[in-house]
Amino acid sequence: MQVVQTPKELKALRDSLPGSVGFVPTMGALHEGHLSLIKKSVEQNDHTIVSIFVNPTQFLPGEDFSKYPRRYEADKKICELASVDILFMPEADAMYHEDEVIIKAPKAKGYILEGHFRPGHFDGVLQVVNKLFHLTKPTRAYFGKKDAQQLYLIQQMVRDFFFDIEIVPCDIVRDPDGLALSSRNVYLSPQERQKALLLSKALKRAAKMVQSGEYSVERIKAKMREILEDIKLDYVEIVDREFEPIENVVVGDTIILVAGYVGSTRLIDNIWI
Ligand code: PAJ
Repeated sequence: MQVVQTPKELKALRDSLPGSVGFVPTMGALHEGHLSLIKKSVEQNDHTIVSIFVNPTQFLPGEDFSKYPRRYEADKKICELASVDILFMPEADAMYHEDEVIIKAPKAKGYILEGHFRPGHFDGVLQVVNKLFHLTKPTRAYFGKKDAQQLYLIQQMVRDFFFDIEIVPCDIVRDPDGLALSSRNVYLSPQERQKALLLSKALKRAAKMVQSGEYSVERIKAKMREILEDIKLDYVEIVDREFEPIENVVVGDTIILVAGYVGSTRLIDNIWI
């Protein structure tokens, strides 16, 4: 595995790779969720590039940018063992220039749900992923359904900017008790971790309601809010796969999403129905 820090080195190395290239962008502190994306890429492509970059432009003022977990040595080992070919770990000043061209997330879909509670977050995500796509020129790029709205907006960017990249959505990896894996789970105390289970519990309950014939979005949301009483919610929302509001669940075309705070840790989770 080659570890590179500058865009110039990455480009040169990437251009030397024959065949198909899979790309997995991450912010590091790698867990089994990230690893599932990496494994899929290694399976499906001749070569795999992983990036680890805690991207400053997607954090809002007051968010956890400075305390976001950084585990560079452990991450390197994980990538090496997973047969990654190139690991890109740039410094922020190698990725950004002063007063640069800015990409804006779409006005509607980029500013609802996550975008409403973290305005500008997706501008930063699209800015950095756009740069990373140009540097890695992947055949396929791997994104988790855990960040459902991010996945949707990346797919839209690929369409709008005519990138020739196949976006591969990957299932959410959970701990055996249901908690969706996240680099931010390390912030949780044992008691908070117990409380955090309510998120997946509410989603599971919603899926059960649908299974037993309850399709009303209002009634499902009401039950979920009951379960989530002890969590300081940002939102409980049920949308179609285009992130349009709906009144009734349509199996095969619905996503149920929750976001909220457990202590001072903000967690998100969702289920695709
Ligand atoms: P990060 O939070 O590190 O996540 C990197 C990728 O791993 C994302 O596609 C995310 O959806 C996926 N992922 C995280 N937890 C997962 C889980 N439990 N199961 C499956 N996939 C999971 O998302 C980002 O970084 C950044 O916004 C990034 C795209 C790298 C741009 O900076």
